[in-house]
Amino acid sequence: MKGETQMTSTTSEDIRSHDILSSGTEEIVSLFDVTPTDTPTPADVRAARLAAPKFGTVFTDHMARISWRRDQGWTHHRVEKYGPLLLDPATAVLHYAQEVFEGMKAYPRPDGTVWAFRPTANAERLARSAHRLALPGLPVEDFLAACAALVRTDRDWVPTAPDSSLYLRPFMFASEAFLGVRPADAVEFLVIASPAGAYFSGGLKPVSIWIDTEYHRAGPGGTGAAKCGGNYAASLLPQEQAAAKGFDQVCFLDGATNTMLEELGGMNVFLVMDDGSVHTPALSGSILEGVTRSSILRLAQDRGRSVSERQIPLTEVVEGLRSGRIAEVFACGTAAVVTPVGRLASDTFDATVGTGEPGELTTAIRDELTSIQYGRTPDRHGWMQRLA
Ligand SMILES: Cc1ncc(COP(=O)(O)O)c(C=O)c1O
Repeated sequence: MKGETQMTSTTSEDIRSHDILSSGTEEIVSLFDVTPTDTPTPADVRAARLAAPKFGTVFTDHMARISWRRDQGWTHHRVEKYGPLLLDPATAVLHYAQEVFEGMKAYPRPDGTVWAFRPTANAERLARSAHRLALPGLPVEDFLAACAALVRTDRDWVPTAPDSSLYLRPFMFASEAFLGVRPADAVEFLVIASPAGAYFSGGLKPVSIWIDTEYHRAGPGGTGAAKCGGNYAASLLPQEQAAAKGFDQVCFLDGATNTMLEELGGMNVFLVMDDGSVHTPALSGSILEGVTRSSILRLAQDRGRSVSERQIPLTEVVEGLRSGRIAEVFACGTAAVVTPVGRLASDTFDATVGTGEPGELTTAIRDELTSIQYGRTPDRHGWMQRLA
């Protein structure tokens, strides 16, 4: 949200969690035709898989699905057995990458309820991404209903260990079989779910970041602001090269001038200055607008911090790390929430951030955000929405 830093008022509407989905969304949940799997995972096998799931490798028994045809719109809301999709080799997505996706988490509470963090923001972002990729917009209510229908069906798969969650992956792709560069007339929307353990087991570990001056993940007028698979494919080679140099992640610069900080392959980035102010690259059209990013801007403001969304030159970062003006650097996103950055380097410099340990604000914001997500802290902004 571009105007996030200007938001100062809180209405009575957003000072508490939404403990029910809107009646319109509940109506759509009831539209879902649920066909239970004929091969449910036995409880003991499920328990073993839930014990220590490696991120993105274990999936629940079902998936939610809605189909779209240009002449019919969205139809056939269903929950069905999780399993391979049968695709014609000419399916458009395999050739022209007309595809968008989302990533969000469902958090368990001790009372057995399951909640999502700002899922409406993910639904709205999917619609914006879909628009950029000439895919049909899926109404917010259908998106939320699909997530709720799946979580309710696979409720036993929501892990309950500390800091664990059920990762939800909604995605949409061109399913029409044809060769030719045009928007497809048939599209599938699915939601799959994957239990996720604590991202940092054994405490917050700072990561090292390589700032890439050779490759960009996105360019002006491109698809950087959309969450589409192609952006991630473009980030793989630079990520691989950075890993070979011993770095955990890559940070990209802007494609127009190769001088401004943009974001990581899958996370937004923040700087905390020695005067306590918080800075993050402004949404340029080529940066993905993170739900975590906008939430952190709000929480930092709530703490009385001055926040700034602006262009951040790499030269300022190098100088700020050298002089100590930059006190903390962190990355943020749904998967890891807030990740401290301990080291930043590029062709021309290699610097430790502060002491190399997680910074004070980094740790405090992370604790606050996760406390809201797991319902340990009052949800004063009404960010949580109950799914099951
Ligand atoms: C490129 C990119 N930037 C930023 C983010 C962080 O977004 P969010 O906070 O909504 O997870 C993600 C993750 O979705 C991402 O893939």
